[in-house]
Amino acid sequence: MAQRVHKAVIPAAGLGTRFLPVTKAQPKEMLPLVDKPAIQYVVEEAVSTGITDILVITGRGKRSLEDHFDRSFELEYYLEQAGKSTEVAEMRRIAEMANIHYLRQGEPRGLGHAVSVAAEHVGEGPFAVLLGDDIMHPDAGVLQGMLNTFEQTGHSVVALKEVPGDDISSYGCAAVRPLEGNLVQIEDLVEKPAAAEAPSNLAVMGRYVFGPGIFDVLAETKPGRGGEIQLTDAIKMLAQREPVYGWTFQNGRFDVGNKLEYLQATVELALEREDIGPRFRKFLVERLSRDDS
Ligand code: UTP
Repeated sequence: MAQRVHKAVIPAAGLGTRFLPVTKAQPKEMLPLVDKPAIQYVVEEAVSTGITDILVITGRGKRSLEDHFDRSFELEYYLEQAGKSTEVAEMRRIAEMANIHYLRQGEPRGLGHAVSVAAEHVGEGPFAVLLGDDIMHPDAGVLQGMLNTFEQTGHSVVALKEVPGDDISSYGCAAVRPLEGNLVQIEDLVEKPAAAEAPSNLAVMGRYVFGPGIFDVLAETKPGRGGEIQLTDAIKMLAQREPVYGWTFQNGRFDVGNKLEYLQATVELALEREDIGPRFRKFLVERLSRDDS
């Protein structure tokens, strides 16, 4: 039985160029889905699996991330004076849900580089990586399944989503050997293959569980696509040296750094809300029937 995973790293230092101009002066991880910033969903997902220590990799212009997870005494004071005790409790919960640390990447030299910045903080134990702009539906259970697999096998686990048709050409694609259930062993990774050449329909998604060995591999990883140090290249190298598992799943993931998926995630999450869901559903139905008539 491998060590339990208590630490997570959330890379959030990217520039968010797909979401300009809103990301010119604010981090994409702070974009709201209904009333919560994207990164809060990610932190809550990590915390729900028992992770207690979270390192966020940030960069210039990302201070609002730190403020969001900090205590705000002034706000709490005013909320208390206004008798808004539910809101006070919620503000405190956000600030206290985990030990959250921050480190700057310096310059955005790629996701692999962002993860390597965490080496000293992570130390000798295993850790999870959750991308700050990838939202998982709470019911998907992807990270929990991956952590269970790591704890049973001691080997790294990567989330792989089954994507339809040509979509695979937008992602890192895994060549795999099926194991039991939804678990596969990764034999190779191909970055953004043409659909006809893709070895599978399994795309690498923003959840990973690694042993500390990934840092040695990252140190050897040369800049790849776009001159950046790619995490996918490091995982490919790792898979040549030791077993790396893939946790396959189908639904419940949104890349909120992509405008269309951001809107889809917003609609999904809004429809599920008890407070606004029923009225929002009514609005959507009426709105869409106007297009049909
Ligand atoms: P993306 O490629 O989605 O992020 O990286 P980006 O570069 O911000 O986005 P676009 O393409 O310009 O719109 C995936 C994740 O890796 C982080 C990002 O913050 C995101 O969570 N990342 C990427 C870093 O932390 N550092 C980097 O150098 C690159």
